[in-house]
Amino acid sequence: MSTDKTNQSWGGRFSEPVDAFVARFTASVEFDKRLYRHDIMGSIAHATMLEKAGVLSADEREQIVANLKDIQGEIEAGTFDWRVDLEDVHMNIEARLTDRIGVTGKKLHTGRSRNDQVATDIRLWLRDEIDLILGEITRLQEGLLGLAEAEADTIMPGFTHLQTAQPVTFGHHLLAWFEMLSRDYERLIDCRKRTNRMPLGSAALAGTTYPIQREITCELLGFEAISGNSLDGVSDRDFAIEFCAAASVAMMHLSRFSEELVLWTSAQFQFIDLPDRFCTGSSIMPQKKNPDVPELVRGKTGRVFGALAGLLVLMKGQPLAYNKDNQEDKEPLFDAADTLRDSLRAFADMVPAIKPKREVMREAALRGFSTATDLADYLVRKGLPFRDCHEIVGHAVKYGVTTGKDLAEMSLDELRHFSDQITDDVFAVLTLEGSVNARDHIGGTAPNQVRAAVQRGKSLLATR
Ligand code: ARG
Repeated sequence: MSTDKTNQSWGGRFSEPVDAFVARFTASVEFDKRLYRHDIMGSIAHATMLEKAGVLSADEREQIVANLKDIQGEIEAGTFDWRVDLEDVHMNIEARLTDRIGVTGKKLHTGRSRNDQVATDIRLWLRDEIDLILGEITRLQEGLLGLAEAEADTIMPGFTHLQTAQPVTFGHHLLAWFEMLSRDYERLIDCRKRTNRMPLGSAALAGTTYPIQREITCELLGFEAISGNSLDGVSDRDFAIEFCAAASVAMMHLSRFSEELVLWTSAQFQFIDLPDRFCTGSSIMPQKKNPDVPELVRGKTGRVFGALAGLLVLMKGQPLAYNKDNQEDKEPLFDAADTLRDSLRAFADMVPAIKPKREVMREAALRGFSTATDLADYLVRKGLPFRDCHEIVGHAVKYGVTTGKDLAEMSLDELRHFSDQITDDVFAVLTLEGSVNARDHIGGTAPNQVRAAVQRGKSLLATR
């Protein structure tokens, strides 16, 4: 990246060049050059509108558009010379345009400012990122549906307080994550609406004296609406904050998901196996296979929360309208989007490859008195009040703990010792299958409910 002593875009009122360190300190090109495609897209729309408004001739517009496209080619070919002394992506591209076509290039910036330009660029960029992220969410959800369908009958312990609570089906557990991701999807769609509003035309802060036609640029750029106030247009970063908030919730979900995968691959649980390609070994302990992908996703969640907090603090003290502070919006926003997208991608690749160890899950569900609630519900059906049933089963569990027997392993005589209402039909409710099949309502864990939920999930994804 080259540097120079003067700035051709705003050097007019200055009598000495910017200090070399200050030039680097205030420059954003190192990170905002990734906006180049959206910057050029915005400039092409702006030039097209300027011609329709009679500000540029057809010939000038044609030259500008063709050369902007060539510049995009140079950037993508890696031959573009990014210059720190030109501060940012906007002035680098404009300066190159002027290098190529002289005075016509200098006309592009008529009726706009970098303030509305950058606000437009980030929105266009984020809109694309949201679409890519939505695609990854759907891919991960498809993986979850596939696995849930295959594991609709697989029984595992369900937990509260990480203590065995009641048996659930593995498919049901997987669909809990599906639900969370559906909400993440909705949040991002909602955030996309407010991202997809066009500040271009706000100019520096007050609008412009040229006869611009914002409807034209709005249409050309595919925005849903035009920002209604120029001061707000250049300074609003709510959409970036909303995105980071939605991204934070999504990462929080992935982090919880990660935590379970880490637990479940441990020697203590052994509920699942992750394929080797998603794990790494240890340089000292030959037996180790570490669940790096979930651990890293859990770790990266902090960066996204940090981006959200950073942007909120960035904005809270700013008077209207644009302030240079806003240049600091980009790195956290970029990082949050990259982190979420990469994490979703890793999960979407990994989830279909999860190998459940059905026997281990089943064994675990058989331990820990997971059908105790079923026994209480059974006694309720025999006419006893629930609180008394709870007490009776509590005694039975205490007996089980001392004798090392699960409820289903006790004889009828042993069980009747706690209540003479218990008869030999009790064993049907004490089995794992009896327990999960009994929770047969929308949102319940019964295998046929899981299959129905999978079908609903497939219909939902088909609407996207
Ligand atoms: N690089 C700047 C940013 O990211 C572009 C807008 C600068 N505008 C200005 N008047 N200095 O916010």
